[in-house]
Amino acid sequence: MKNIVVLVSGGGTNLQALIDAQESGAIKNGRITCVISSKPGVYALERAAKHGISSRVIARREYPDIISYSQAVLDAILEEKADLVVYAGFMTILDELVVKAMPNKMMNVHPALIPSFCGKGYYGLKVHEEALKKGVKLTGATVHFVTEVCDGGPIILQKGVEVRDDDTPETLQRRVMEQAEWKILPQAVSLFCEDKLEVRDSRVYIKD
Ligand code: GAR
Repeated sequence: MKNIVVLVSGGGTNLQALIDAQESGAIKNGRITCVISSKPGVYALERAAKHGISSRVIARREYPDIISYSQAVLDAILEEKADLVVYAGFMTILDELVVKAMPNKMMNVHPALIPSFCGKGYYGLKVHEEALKKGVKLTGATVHFVTEVCDGGPIILQKGVEVRDDDTPETLQRRVMEQAEWKILPQAVSLFCEDKLEVRDSRVYIKD
């Protein structure tokens, strides 16, 4: 059974999708053992508590720089004996010292079809604002392994979602979450825990 540590910063709907998948048996060979939040008081922490999952707050604002913050997060991940770390709406770009300690063991859900609308500055609602500004007809979500390049790691799963003429950033965000993120994130986590993901030459292959 693999230990899954989930990193959050906000509402935690992706965390909820993982909890629901765990409770319905859809995550095979893994369980969420700890939730770590970069902000105190966020709703994601309540979601964890309601389901008996332990949590820690490692507040970004209490650390003077990103290196000391990243080291504190890594220490917690190692203490929790994490086999997999999931960024589920985690809004801090950690120093590469964390990924170096957990190569191909950290995954992130991004609310667009990478390589579109991704990288530094593209997070949350901003991603959907930019997609609407560009006028794309199709957007979606991506789950990828975390590397030192922001949103640049090997892609595990993607799912497309249509953009409607009357969409606002909020309606589009909701549809991308419902139709894509909440589905592919638990799937990717389960595939990882079942040892079905193989990374070769920066590509992810899914074993039968
Ligand atoms: C989600 O849409 C997630 O994909 C996005 O923030 C939202 C968090 O929602 N993440 C990023 O933009 C990371 N670059 P949640 O807290 O309800 O899961």
